Amino acid sequence: MKSLIIAGNWKSNKTVKEAEDWMGTFHAAWDTDTTVILCVPYMVLGFLAAKKPQFLLGAQDVSAFGDGAYTGEVSARQIKEFAEWVIIGHSERRKNFGETDEALAKKVEQAKNSGLKIIYCVPDGNTVIPTGVDVVAYEPVWAIGTGNSDTPENANTVIAGIKAKSQVPKVIYGGSVTAANVASFTGQPSIDGVLPGGASLDAETFAALITNAR
Ligand code: PGA
Repeated sequence: MKSLIIAGNWKSNKTVKEAEDWMGTFHAAWDTDTTVILCVPYMVLGFLAAKKPQFLLGAQDVSAFGDGAYTGEVSARQIKEFAEWVIIGHSERRKNFGETDEALAKKVEQAKNSGLKIIYCVPDGNTVIPTGVDVVAYEPVWAIGTGNSDTPENANTVIAGIKAKSQVPKVIYGGSVTAANVASFTGQPSIDGVLPGGASLDAETFAALITNAR
């Protein structure tokens, strides 16, 4: 069986109390060839880590700097206390926070130096991918949060191209993935998993998505 990565992205949603409620209704089982990661807001990370969840935890961003006088930033070393993974380069960060390829390369370096595994997001098959990232997520901007996903066939073609060019071992798809359409993506030969945003916010929906991915 091919190994799969399913990485939920809560974005800037949920308080600690809401995360606790979510945990109360999340019941899912998956095989050892499936890696489930939940990328949550910073203040939820510590709370969920203490609950010792069956999934892995990830942050959604990381400082381009180390520890020190960088008000408002969270360093890779601080994240590593609670999480194994981090998303870098999400299109919402590129668009709303002006993150450039240069700044993102610094974030990748910080994450790597602290031993975090990296999901690096790209909007297309031509974006620069820094060396050393563990997983690339192909996320066409027009498909994010719109209910209008890419076709599985096109996502497969773009992902096959990224793999051929970059030597990244794992490339996943993100953009309006649901419990209903997930299998159409994970069934494609080059697609190694999915990055659902909206579909990770409801515990039962996310559990169904994990089940349906196989
Ligand atoms: P969506 O978000 O599943 O809500 O489209 C995906 C993402 O932005 O990672």
